[in-house]
Amino acid sequence: MRPTSIYRCQACGFQAGKWYGRCPDCGEFSTIVEERPTAGRGPGGARRPAPGRGESAAPLRLTAVAAGDATRVKTGIVELDRVLGGGVVPGSLVLVGGDPGIGKSTLILQASQALARAAGPVLYVSGEESAAQVKLRADRLGVDAAELFVLAETQLEAIEAHLATIQPRILVVDSIQTVYRGELESSPGSVGQVRECGARLMLLAKSRGLAVFLVGHVTKEGALAGPRVLEHLVDTVLYFEGERHATYRVLRAVKNRFGSTNEIGVFEMSDRGLREVANPSAAFLAERPRGASGSVIVAALEGTRPLLLEVQALVTTAHFGTPRRTVLGADYNRVCLLLAILEKRAGLPLQNQDVFVNVAGGARCHEPAADLAIALASASSFVERPVAPDVVALGEVGLTGEVRAVSGLETRVREAAALGFVQAVVPRSSLVPGGAYPVAVTGVATLDEAITLFVR
Ligand code: TYD
Ligand code: MG
Repeated sequence: MRPTSIYRCQACGFQAGKWYGRCPDCGEFSTIVEERPTAGRGPGGARRPAPGRGESAAPLRLTAVAAGDATRVKTGIVELDRVLGGGVVPGSLVLVGGDPGIGKSTLILQASQALARAAGPVLYVSGEESAAQVKLRADRLGVDAAELFVLAETQLEAIEAHLATIQPRILVVDSIQTVYRGELESSPGSVGQVRECGARLMLLAKSRGLAVFLVGHVTKEGALAGPRVLEHLVDTVLYFEGERHATYRVLRAVKNRFGSTNEIGVFEMSDRGLREVANPSAAFLAERPRGASGSVIVAALEGTRPLLLEVQALVTTAHFGTPRRTVLGADYNRVCLLLAILEKRAGLPLQNQDVFVNVAGGARCHEPAADLAIALASASSFVERPVAPDVVALGEVGLTGEVRAVSGLETRVREAAALGFVQAVVPRSSLVPGGAYPVAVTGVATLDEAITLFVR
């Protein structure tokens, strides 16, 4: 049977059996292009991932399959290794996403050094900078390894040709939006190119046992340009985030076939590249004002790792119409909800107050366990009375004003104690009778109770 063409939207990935001038799914004009299936392609025009070098794999008993965890290669950057799940797995495809200028190239170049020393040749393909520019950056970072090769190239076929000569163990493609396959008509960075190049690199990774790092820029809306097509394909998705102008950067795994997705790595951008922050809690609290109203510390938990963050709130009388609620680093809707609870359950008249909430240092905290800290900080700013500086607050706040249990209480409280905190206000329901804690814990059942004890 003659293969029939399929038509795909380059903006949203919508597929149809006929051409449309306007995509019925996303409504964009002129984004539908024809894709002709060729031999070797599966349904939908996507290339079927081959299990090995073109041969079909035989079923194996699970007990007979080698796990191969021992073959992980360390990047030499502890924070990165942890997020990867203990190092780079040969044959894996890792996507490193983040806003332009956040430090993706810097991070991967720094990691390339240790990888080149530990695993063998690393091929760093730069589609954005010339080899000389990469060298300049490497010099500034003090990166120097004999087995690190640089290639300024954007055509995928040309890149592949070099794999045969250099035989790298690690391939870096910086960025996936700049590479293209000559046989496709669409321009580099289009969904079709990103998907096809990603699929081809996946095949190379699996068949050669090559670990591939793909750098991807994120659009303003937070999506990887090339609407998330790569996220499904790759083994690991890491996001590098933080305020571009703040010094701290957080690397977060959002997908990991070889490790936990809860781990984070914290870095500081310096004039000599990224530096690991071994004690992020101390770093995030370094500039904390003591004795100021509207500042409360929360012991957040990122994966298995506790992190102390300062929640700041500023509540001031609104002078125009609807009062403003501005939130940075926390969940906007949760903050609005907490303000309504403060009003209704704790009797704080906030309806004519502008409220600004910020997690200091450019950090981010979206877990419900930060509710109590946000509510206490807002209440403290409103009544202009500080919460004692040696207190950490923990707890989810429900709509009736109840303070609900949080997970990992011990880990959080231990981190607080390690940084010199002596008191914690926690959900009463999280306390185990007769439990020993390294700080003085006060269990509260309601938000009102917490405010009475710590603010008023
Ligand atoms: P870069 O790694 O080029 O970002 P990305 O690849 O994510 O676009 O990092 C760029 C920023 O980092 C740039 O604003 C300059 C800054 N930077 C430093 O502050 N110190 C350094 O040593 C380097 C290499 C970059
Ligand atoms: Mg870059």
